[in-house]
Amino acid sequence: MGQNIGTLIIFGASGDLTSRLLLPGLASLLGSSRGEELHLIGVDRGDVSDADWHATVTASFASESSALATKVAKNSRYLKADVTSKDDLARVLGEATGRVALYFALPPAVTILACTTLATMDLPKGVMFALEKPFGTDLASARKLNRLLETMLPEEQVFRVDHFLGKSTVLNLLGLRFANRIFEPLLSAPNVERVEIVFDETLGLENRAGYYDKAGALVDMIQSHLLLVLALTAMEPPASLDADDLRGAMAQVLRATRTQRKNGTSSRRARYGAGTINGRALPDYVDEEGVDPARGTETLAEVTLEIDNWRWAGVPFMLRSGKALGVGRQDVLVVFKEVPHLPTGLTGVAGPSCLRISIKPATLDLDLVINGQGDPFTLERSALHSDLGSGELSAYGEVLAGLLESDPTLSVRGDVAEECWRIVEPVLAAWRKDAVPFESYAAGSAGPTAWQ
Ligand code: BG6
Repeated sequence: MGQNIGTLIIFGASGDLTSRLLLPGLASLLGSSRGEELHLIGVDRGDVSDADWHATVTASFASESSALATKVAKNSRYLKADVTSKDDLARVLGEATGRVALYFALPPAVTILACTTLATMDLPKGVMFALEKPFGTDLASARKLNRLLETMLPEEQVFRVDHFLGKSTVLNLLGLRFANRIFEPLLSAPNVERVEIVFDETLGLENRAGYYDKAGALVDMIQSHLLLVLALTAMEPPASLDADDLRGAMAQVLRATRTQRKNGTSSRRARYGAGTINGRALPDYVDEEGVDPARGTETLAEVTLEIDNWRWAGVPFMLRSGKALGVGRQDVLVVFKEVPHLPTGLTGVAGPSCLRISIKPATLDLDLVINGQGDPFTLERSALHSDLGSGELSAYGEVLAGLLESDPTLSVRGDVAEECWRIVEPVLAAWRKDAVPFESYAAGSAGPTAWQ
């Protein structure tokens, strides 16, 4: 391929994702050393004037303004179209110049319909597809969508977007693990007690019921993002970071990953009720506009997984994510086993050493047990702390750079997307059957009391 993208077409241009994440990410890329000129076309079903579209783009670009971003905003266009209509799609594609990238910033069910229509058309040569998460709505639909895409374009032209793979802190796992002899040999079952991958947020629903109420915390975060963080934490060292090696290593460890109990009951779920977070009152989740209480959507999900391979057999990996919690915690925590024998005479609190790679803020802490400052034979805990760089591009900027440069390294490969669904399927089934209690917590709390 080699040639950069000439036109970026965003389907779902009026959506929250486009203005809140995608366009600011594009601005971050355009203002960086990797920015290249392109033609931006926004597509959606509503009537939006070019002037209103320019205003949306300009507002979203404001945080990262640059001469190139201003030019792209000025030349961008809005087209009204139904992405499931062949005629409309042909008209939109007819407006593109150079190589084209189609960004599906749409709910998964609409993306599937749009792809089904596009499969009946002649596609522009070298076209790239970028598909937002969640990829499909379950394992069966993800498989079906993958088989459909295979008939349309080569895998390296399909970008399944996970902006977590663009987060510099997540990518820091690679440097930390594979460029330091002191960590890698210790990351294995004989030395590690357990691993926690947690993304607890203080944010509530934030007017996203249309999407979130159908997804829930398990699909929104664990299936879509945290399993990929698990893959980077637990995979075998790849020979290189090219797309085949890196994604092959991720796929391999995910294939060995399963729920701790096969029936999906090694999981917990809960939903927030009314409460206060940092002085901000939040209504009960079910009272938020657009929420259908009958769906029984969870806003806090936890799953315990195991990786059936030589390195990790028997080590629990706890993945958790929730909204409206009192304290945000977003990190990967490796808890090491205690020493086999503490010499008699050393007193005080020993406890395990822990390695914490914090995704937000970008920090690294190694908690150690050392000789105390007062009595040298009394143990104390101490932390080695480091701030991690935040990277030149935002997470969306990094992912868009890969898309526009046609480098799939940071996109989710088809089989990986299917594995992520396969891993959570038993949990979804157990929850559907009510085999796992549906608990509750007040917004602003630390989660259900029983979990603490
Ligand atoms: C998104 C989820 O993909 O990631 C949100 O849909 C979540 O629910 C968000 O809040 C977290 O990522 P970030 O980059 O905004 O911290």
